[in-house]
Amino acid sequence: MQKVTLITGGTSGIGKAMSEALASEEYLVYATGRNIPTASDIKNLHYRYLDVRNNDSVIGAVKGITDQHGQIDILINNAGLGFAGPLEETPFEDIYNLFETNYFGTIRTTRHVIPFMRQKGSGLIVNISSIAGRVGLPFQSIYSSSKFAIESLTESLRIELKPFGINVCMIEPGDYNTNVNKNRGRAFSSNDSPYFKRLKGLFDLLEKNINGGSNPEKMGRLVIKIASARSPKLRYTSGRFFERITPAAKSILPDRLFEWILTRFYRL
Ligand SMILES: NC(=O)c1ccc[n+]([C@@H]2O[C@H](COP(=O)([O-])OP(=O)(O)OC[C@H]3O[C@@H](n4cnc5c(N)ncnc54)[C@H](OP(=O)(O)O)[C@@H]3O)[C@@H](O)[C@H]2O)c1
Repeated sequence: MQKVTLITGGTSGIGKAMSEALASEEYLVYATGRNIPTASDIKNLHYRYLDVRNNDSVIGAVKGITDQHGQIDILINNAGLGFAGPLEETPFEDIYNLFETNYFGTIRTTRHVIPFMRQKGSGLIVNISSIAGRVGLPFQSIYSSSKFAIESLTESLRIELKPFGINVCMIEPGDYNTNVNKNRGRAFSSNDSPYFKRLKGLFDLLEKNINGGSNPEKMGRLVIKIASARSPKLRYTSGRFFERITPAAKSILPDRLFEWILTRFYRL
């Protein structure tokens, strides 16, 4: 029996790579998003419209898949946006929009999929967090806090859903070369902003880090490993070596030393 898989944000970057990797391994994949191709030329891969900010859209996509197959075996909550800039200069609308996508979008989709997994007595939910969900990144306070929220959501749900045979886990990627920087929201500080001097160069550095980041195909290989694991771990950190050891370094090093390293890394 092919496992029916729903991926949010399956139209670009990490989500696209995971969708294609799973489809190549005979999973039946529904890659979703707002900007979907009209057709798929990849076997086992189908596209569906799903805007995670819109309840009716989530209900419609889940219903379409479950009416056809009676089940969703794997849900990957991947749709997400970045945001950079000083909190003080970030319009509240942008803060709300980011949480609406990264956090409430995950909750919304998960709530509608759980009943099908619970009835079947099995399922796998993979939430895409970030290293930024383990470390509060400077000038990315909103993005980081949305991913910290994903971390605690995942920890809680993992225990809550275990008796129903549903496994819940998360992946914490480092920098991956995707469209995330192009789609990242920004608070633009003018010349007379008190943050201007420290921000100068930060946006360029973020772009450079993403362009030099890992190939999303690596996330494809990881998600196959997780999907076929009998008992997936809670966390999978993914990326380059220095990114993978960052959460451990944070827990071992004194706070002041870790902050100093982070400040130097971002040239602040
Ligand atoms: N790239 C990295 O370095 C990195 C690092 C850590 C974590 N992550 C996380 O990985 C995930 C994927 O990011 P990416 O790097 O692959 O970025 P990306 O290339 O910009 O892809 C983002 C995806 O999210 C979808 N999306 C955005 N808003 C949506 C909405 N309202 N409803 C449904 N889908 C929506 C987009 O699809 P549509 O435009 O078609 O709607 C797109 O498929 C995000 O959660 C991100 O936070 C990325």
